Amino acid sequence: MDNKGKFIVFEGIDGSGKSTQIKFLADKLKEAKIAYEITAEPSEGPVGVMIRQILTGERKMDNRVIAALFAADRLDHILNEEHGLLNKIENGTTVICDRYYFSSYAYNGVDMPMEWVIAANSQSSRLLKPTVNVFIDLDPDVALERIARNRQRTELFEKKSRLEKVRENYFEVFEKMQDETVIIIDGNQAPEMMAEEIWQKIKGYLC
Ligand code: TYD
Repeated sequence: MDNKGKFIVFEGIDGSGKSTQIKFLADKLKEAKIAYEITAEPSEGPVGVMIRQILTGERKMDNRVIAALFAADRLDHILNEEHGLLNKIENGTTVICDRYYFSSYAYNGVDMPMEWVIAANSQSSRLLKPTVNVFIDLDPDVALERIARNRQRTELFEKKSRLEKVRENYFEVFEKMQDETVIIIDGNQAPEMMAEEIWQKIKGYLC
């Protein structure tokens, strides 16, 4: 009998509604009495903190350096002796993670050759593969409208073409990586309906 925790990853472009769905799933796990934790990438470790400073503009770095930092942050998130994912999962905790290596392929694959990004993350994919990747698919136009409603400033045009490329990259790598379990969910549905669809599709992997 396998007493390990499961590893559930949420993916999607910015504004796709991942965080709302993560909360819904957490409620379901609680009801099902499954021990779980929620985490995210960039992580809360030292490399993740540096990445957040870059994302907010507090620190400047070339996009190619940032791509390497995401790969390094992920390895620390997995391997850290105190709060690493491998230890948690080994000890029976199911982990829900907001973004993982498919985010690197999709986002950092815009600035770097995709093959480089895949190679940079090869240790992570060898060490810890998601039990299931839940991809919330939303049109970049709709996602940007949502972001604009919630935030004051957005560089609309630049962001739109970037998000379109990010979405394309997601589909390109889903196609390429046949050994990954990916569930694609229509992000245009009401949040409660989406949560129910996600639960129906993933509960078989959890219980
Ligand atoms: P996220 O925290 O999900 O965004 P927010 O909290 O602003 O909604 O992710 C931060 C950004 O980092 C997001 O635009 C995607 C990007 N990212 C990468 O470029 N590569 C990666 O490997 C990861 C995990 C995220």
